Amino acid sequence: MNRLDNHRTLVTGAASGIGQATALRLLDEGATVVAADVSTDGLAATSARAAERGTADRLTTLTLDIGDEQSVIAGVRSSIETLGGLDSLVNAAGILRASHTEQTSLDLWDLIIRVNLTGTFLVVREALPALLANPRATVVNFSSTSAAFAHPYMAAYAASKGGIQSFTHAIALEYGGKGLRAVCVAPGSIKSGITDATPGYLPADSDWALFSKLSPALPTDRESGGAGMGDPTAVAGVIAMLVSEDGAFITGTEIRIDGGTHA
Ligand SMILES: NC(=O)c1ccc[n+]([C@@H]2O[C@H](COP(=O)([O-])OP(=O)(O)OC[C@H]3O[C@@H](n4cnc5c(N)ncnc54)[C@H](O)[C@@H]3O)[C@@H](O)[C@H]2O)c1
Repeated sequence: MNRLDNHRTLVTGAASGIGQATALRLLDEGATVVAADVSTDGLAATSARAAERGTADRLTTLTLDIGDEQSVIAGVRSSIETLGGLDSLVNAAGILRASHTEQTSLDLWDLIIRVNLTGTFLVVREALPALLANPRATVVNFSSTSAAFAHPYMAAYAASKGGIQSFTHAIALEYGGKGLRAVCVAPGSIKSGITDATPGYLPADSDWALFSKLSPALPTDRESGGAGMGDPTAVAGVIAMLVSEDGAFITGTEIRIDGGTHA
């Protein structure tokens, strides 16, 4: 008996990094998974990795843009139809851009807020009726250590992640009486598409001294942009716990997974 046998879940951002590792981990634990992402090629890679592990028969992939309301409405509806209901929703899709705040255009600000914060809201809104039809369901949203600890040149990203934390606390209270749990994970220093791309987004005149407190305390075996990183599976395992009965009394909070970067 696996911990997540008969568990039906939708994972966004499942084409890469932490979302992909989470989809694979939930499959490994017995769940049936819809893996959604804007990257169709990345989803093909997720399918290939599931096939290698012998779990692809419980995986459906779905191309979806969480920043587009119609795409979310259609995609969440088809996910619920495919799964025959929903026991959990994992909102891993997100983007990071970096710039000096005084040079951040309104278009860039809007893009980051629309994908990360509004996108998370849209997917939750569309999934809520199916989640609430279930006496015990879970939403896992993705905050970031940047929501509570200063990360240079990432004010828009940090604001989007702080918004996700506030949103998650609010829905945890609003729907807790109906059995819905809502939790944030707050990763930091996890090797992924985002952390691999971050050095390319940072301003050329970045003050590198501002990054001096952004390294894990624990030894790491991965690297992005010259910095030590944890593996996405470190977050995936926590999410598997959160959506399972092992997380039954956890709601309205954040779990920071950063190797002690902000210890
Ligand atoms: N890696 C870290 O250290 C770290 C730290 C804090 C928070 N996070 C958060 O973790 C989550 C996963 O990111 P990751 O680090 O694995 O990076 P990643 O780039 O490897 O994965 C992000 C995924 O989101 C998808 N995506 C982006 N925009 C989308 C959209 N509009 N619609 C649907 N899918 C979209 C991407 O295609 C990609 O597959 C993100 O929310 C990120 O902000 C990561």
